[in-house]
Amino acid sequence: MTSNELRQAYLNFFKEKGHAIIPSASLLPENDPTTLFTSSGMQPMVPYLLGEIHPNGTRITDSQKSFRTQDIEEVGDNRHTTFFEMLGNWSLGDYFKAEQIPWMFEFLTKTVGLNPEKLFITCFRGKEEIGIPKDEEAAELWQKQFKTVGLEAKIVDFPERDGLQNGRIFFYDEKKNWWSRAGITEKMPVGEPGGPDSEMFWDFGTELNLHENSQWKNEPCHVNCDCGRFMEIGNNVFMAYKKTDQGFESLKNKNVDFGGGLERIATALNGDPDMFKIDLFAGPLKLLEELSGKKYGDKGDSEYINDGKQCWVDVRKQFRVILDHLRAATFLIGDGALPSNKDQGYFTRRLIRRSVRFARDLNVQENFCAKVGEIYIDEYQVAYPDLKNKKAEVLAELEKEEKRFRETLEDGIKEFDKLLKGFEIAFQQTGKKITEISGKQAFKLYDTYGFPLEMTEEMAKENGLVIDGEGFKQAFAAHKDLSRSGAEQKFAGGLADHSVETTKLHTATHLLQAALRKILGPHVFQKGSNITVERLRFDFSHPEKVTSEQLEQVEQIVNQAIEQNLPVNCQMMDLAEAKAAAAIGVFDDKYEKLGGQVKVYTIAPSTSSGQAGENSVSREVCGGPHVEKTGDLGHFKIIKEEAVSAGVRRIKAVLA
Ligand code: SER
Repeated sequence: MTSNELRQAYLNFFKEKGHAIIPSASLLPENDPTTLFTSSGMQPMVPYLLGEIHPNGTRITDSQKSFRTQDIEEVGDNRHTTFFEMLGNWSLGDYFKAEQIPWMFEFLTKTVGLNPEKLFITCFRGKEEIGIPKDEEAAELWQKQFKTVGLEAKIVDFPERDGLQNGRIFFYDEKKNWWSRAGITEKMPVGEPGGPDSEMFWDFGTELNLHENSQWKNEPCHVNCDCGRFMEIGNNVFMAYKKTDQGFESLKNKNVDFGGGLERIATALNGDPDMFKIDLFAGPLKLLEELSGKKYGDKGDSEYINDGKQCWVDVRKQFRVILDHLRAATFLIGDGALPSNKDQGYFTRRLIRRSVRFARDLNVQENFCAKVGEIYIDEYQVAYPDLKNKKAEVLAELEKEEKRFRETLEDGIKEFDKLLKGFEIAFQQTGKKITEISGKQAFKLYDTYGFPLEMTEEMAKENGLVIDGEGFKQAFAAHKDLSRSGAEQKFAGGLADHSVETTKLHTATHLLQAALRKILGPHVFQKGSNITVERLRFDFSHPEKVTSEQLEQVEQIVNQAIEQNLPVNCQMMDLAEAKAAAAIGVFDDKYEKLGGQVKVYTIAPSTSSGQAGENSVSREVCGGPHVEKTGDLGHFKIIKEEAVSAGVRRIKAVLA
């Protein structure tokens, strides 16, 4: 079975079980300035999991394109990729565990033909303190399935402490087997749905000595131990709970959210733990071997002569980075994220430039990005006809970006080597080791030679150095002030102009969002915003009509904040700081820093230090502009509330 056949087999399987097949949503979430990328199958489904009626019914299946920025630096081992497809099937208050588990077993072992002896399962151990019981039901349902193929699947507990214990079904705690967007911690907001999950793992076998040779060799091996012996191939989330003030309550509709990595299941089917050996990568891999004259594979395959000496290098990392990054860049451009210096396009740029840098290690002389992209587009043409339709445009962008970077790459590398040399000389002369590249130096590599900061950081790390991130931020900010680029322009998108009136309405929009979240719940997020001198228009996620009482309460909260004449405070923060400061949004993998930092606007009673206090009314990542005091706003009035699309409402409001 090819990977393309595997995707189709999955969709057909669930179609036969009454599911509607829906196309993948874009990698770029629409109308949501706080979320850069679609990073899982469930992300576009959140409104429906929260109760909104899905136009295609209560049984849905899809294969969702996903992109995870936090995995960029991880790419290089045998399983990490930034782009992947997540196979999904969804019960929106329809079937539950008793259907999902037998179906999954049937799909994996019969339809795909995976050997059930190599299939391992995890379930939730339960957590008394929060009143969620051990998921014995799921464990027993799995056990029954294994019995149908003559396997006694032993259920055991504490694998992380006691190892496999000849078990096949294991209980883990909430860190591994509970799923909600914010985990189960105190951070999980009231109103957020979640539930225990049950994951499937594939055993690549002890014969490969994966555990024995790993850094975990002194600990017991278990399915979640990361030694590489086991690979997670799918996750059934039994979304049955909702967070409340006190703890949890049962959701009215119990949902199933299954997410399975297409490439991971294909890897299991391929019987080789190296994901990059599946068919989807085969074409580009062959091309890279031809262009580089090097072979992908074990150490011994990559022999080359250097200065008359025979060298052996493992070049799998270089191959993997290029294979992953150019596939991701191809899809990102296809969805509209053209290489640029900001927002989503910055990631596309980083992916392509990192590929070019690694191709230099492989000694690839000619331009290769568009060639690799073309093979991918052909490979995916049946599943993603839209991508095929944009082939010429996508390839042109890949080519353009590669050319642009190649023009400065050699000079940039020379500049970098010059830095290293300078450090060495200084060391010889003073005996003091310099371990830090200054912010200015890093900024020069960024600005003059086109090195994404993260690339310089990585090169620094390879040479035992770090970068002065704070200094880079300053150099960047100074530059930004000069050119007025960056965040301002991004967020100006929603503003007609920067006049006093639109600026006031912009600040009012922040107060409105905060008030909506207070009255309706934390599922409310901005979906779009448009402001003219006359009115604000704010789109947000919410499954049903907002009642007139609720609208009144919202108005009241906003007007109270206006009457209190609160200061509007702006701080530059890096992503981690913004997270820690609880700025608005789903702060997991979906946020990304823009050029190293974000602006955070806080509306709060001022404290003695003049800084925003903990009791903030509103805190949002935003580019501005805003008024200085809420007292400037006047009286806030909602003039209309209406639906925009499924799960999205719109409010129009004015300041009088
Ligand atoms: N929501 C789960 C995940 O992202 C399953 O789809 O893993």
